Amino acid sequence: VRVGNLMAFLQYASMILIALIMLAMTFVMIPRAQASADRINEVLLTLPSITDPKEPQKDSGLRGYVEFQNVTFRYAGAEKPVLEDITFKAKPGETTAIIGSTGAGKTTILQLIPRFFDIEKGTVLVNGTDVRKMAQKELRAKIGYVPQKASIFSGTIKDNIRFGKEDATDEEILEALETAQAAEFVEGKENGIESDIEQAGANLSGGQKQRLSIARALVRKPEIYLFDDSFSALDYKTDQKLRKALKKTTDDAAVIIVAQRVSTITDADQIIVLNEGKIAGIGTHQQLLAENGIYQEIVASQQAEEESA
Ligand code: UTP
Ligand code: MG
Repeated sequence: VRVGNLMAFLQYASMILIALIMLAMTFVMIPRAQASADRINEVLLTLPSITDPKEPQKDSGLRGYVEFQNVTFRYAGAEKPVLEDITFKAKPGETTAIIGSTGAGKTTILQLIPRFFDIEKGTVLVNGTDVRKMAQKELRAKIGYVPQKASIFSGTIKDNIRFGKEDATDEEILEALETAQAAEFVEGKENGIESDIEQAGANLSGGQKQRLSIARALVRKPEIYLFDDSFSALDYKTDQKLRKALKKTTDDAAVIIVAQRVSTITDADQIIVLNEGKIAGIGTHQQLLAENGIYQEIVASQQAEEESA
C-alpha cells in the first residue's frame, strides 16, 4: 500500500465519522426543538383573560372619581384572597393615602384601578362606571401610574418621559421634570433632556430614577394619579417639595398614594390603614392617631426608628 492511499483512506473515514456524529446530534436536537416549539405555540395561542366588553359604556362625564365597593380579590390559584371587602372612595382634588405593612395588599389595590386583574367580588368604579364595562385603552388613558419599581429604559431622558405621552413637547417634558423635582439634575447634565441613559438607568441614582418615573406619569396630565411608594428613595426635603408642587398640578385630579413613611401622608385628606388585606380604618392623620390602634403602632415604630437613627 502506498502512503497516499492510506492518507486518502484516513481522510475519508474521518469525514464519514464526523457526518455520523452530526447525525446523532441532530437526533438529540429534534425532541428539544419540538418541546420548544410547543411552548412557543402555547404562548402565542394564550388568550388574554382581561378583555374589552363588546359594547363599552360611554364616558360618564365625571372626572377623577375612583370607588371600591366591597372588593375581594385573589391572585389566580391562590388559597386566600389578598384583599377582602375593600370599600372606599377617592374624589378629584383629594389625596387618598394607603399605609400598611409589607404584603398587606397596597400595590394590589392600585393595580386593580387600571384593571390589571379582574376581581372576584364587588365592583371597582372609575368615574362611576364599572372598569369591566370600559374600553381598556380609555380607562388607562385616564390614569398616571408610577409603579413601585421605577422602570427606566436605555435611550435619552426625553425618550423615557415620552413613554408617558408619545407626542409630548419639550416644554411639557420640562414642566413635568420641574414638578417631579428632577429639572435640576437633568439640567446639570451636559445635554439636558437629550442626555443618554444606560439600560435600566444604570447611570442614575435610585431617587433620580424615581423622579423620572414620576415625571413620566405627570406628562400625561391624567385625572387619576397612582403613586406606589414613589417617594421612598427621596430625602425628606425633596419629598416635601415634590408633594407641594404636585398639589398645584393635581388640583382637579384624584391622587392615591401608597407610602411607607407617615410623614409623606400626614396632610392627606383620608388615610386608609390596610392590614392583611382588610381595611383597619379610614380617616385623617389626627383621627387615626386618636383612635386607630394599628395606625398608632405604625407611627410609634417610625418615631422609635427616627430616634435611634
Ligand atoms: P402586594 O404587592 O399588594 O403588597 O401583595 P404590598 O402591600 O404592596 O407590599 P409592599 O409594601 O410593597 O412590600 C399582597 C400579597 O399578595 C401576594 C403577596 O404574596 C402578598 O402577600 N401576591 C402579590 C401574589 O400572590 N402574587 C402577585 O403577583 C403579587
Ligand atoms: Mg407594594
